[in-house]
Amino acid sequence: MAEESDNTQDPSNKITPASRQYPDSTRKIEEDIRTTGHSWDGIEEYDNPMPRWWVWTFLITVVWAVGYWVVYPAWPGINSATSGIAGYSSRERVAQEIADFEARNESLFVQLVDTDLDEIREIDDLHRFAVNAGASVFRAQCSQCHGTGGAGVQAAGYPNLLNDDWLWGGTMEDIVQTVTYGIRNEDFPDARWSEMPAFGQDGLLEEDEIHEVVNYVLSLSGSEHDEALAAAGAELYEINCASCHGDGGEGDYFIGAPALNNQIWLYGGTPETLFETIYYSRFGVMPGFATRLREAEIRAVAAYVHQLGGGQ
Ligand code: HEC
Ligand code: HEC
Repeated sequence: MAEESDNTQDPSNKITPASRQYPDSTRKIEEDIRTTGHSWDGIEEYDNPMPRWWVWTFLITVVWAVGYWVVYPAWPGINSATSGIAGYSSRERVAQEIADFEARNESLFVQLVDTDLDEIREIDDLHRFAVNAGASVFRAQCSQCHGTGGAGVQAAGYPNLLNDDWLWGGTMEDIVQTVTYGIRNEDFPDARWSEMPAFGQDGLLEEDEIHEVVNYVLSLSGSEHDEALAAAGAELYEINCASCHGDGGEGDYFIGAPALNNQIWLYGGTPETLFETIYYSRFGVMPGFATRLREAEIRAVAAYVHQLGGGQ
């Protein structure tokens, strides 16, 4: 107890209000400097003016904003925003930029149409332009069937465009023709056209005979096969198939008959798939692009396909 009372008597233990500790400075604030009148536990808020530079900057931004409303589109209305006296529109600006871009390319597009198809790849600048433009046409119009890289989709009969095994021919002229009118579509009388008979379905060959001819086709392509069945299929092939696919299975561009003497298959080279192809036949359809693309774009995409690997 004695200690405690000692403590309370020690003057240094008392909390002294700021005003009594520094009487002079407190008086100074009260007398010289205006405050806002707000006070928190004795802490008061000065009412100093804003710095000049700040006030000016603020006023300039206000004036700028008003000017902006007048010159540029600003206030939203019911149907559209106020248009501004400068007549600026970000949409129009994009349209203008696209138009400028196209105008710059237009001369190249014109040159592309005027140049002989086989000479395009000899003119470096033109060829580079055609391949780049063609790549973007390909991504937009062709990749959903032929794949982004052009490798095709065998299960669907969408051919691989990367190799030199062609159905309808791989010169620039052939490719332009294929792309312009398409294949087996009803839209263009000039579409490429041919039809393999459905040998099984239409009763042209017995199932046994189809198995024989399947083995002969396997032998032509150098795949594993049954010798005896293949031998029996040779004559059937000669009579029924050679007119389109060639004596040695080399195929025929004129009617889009695939080569059968290699390992590149449009629909597939397993015995089961071959049986299905010969029994029911196939009818691959590709749309024509004559009405969807400009001639220059068709030439560009043909140049792109031509340089993918198999151009002739
Ligand atoms: C709807 C699917 C589809 C689209 C889209 C399509 N193709 Fe095809 N394309 C095919 C099919 C199917 C074939 C094979 C037809 C056949 O069996 O003869 C083919 C064949 C081709 C061939 C012939 C290949 C050869 O070996 O002779 C070329 C070249 C070709 N397409 C290029 C294009 C280009 C370029 C585009 C885009 C402008 C395009 N295709 C768009 C489905 C399509
Ligand atoms: C009138 C011409 C014609 C005759 C006859 C014909 N074919 Fe075809 N054949 C074609 C065409 C065209 C295709 C491609 C069909 C397509 O692209 O949709 C084809 C496709 C094929 C394919 C698919 C090849 C692959 O890469 O997937 C095989 C296999 C085939 N024929 C075998 C035969 C056999 C075997 C016979 C005889 C029994 C025969 N064809 C008779 C025209 C013919």
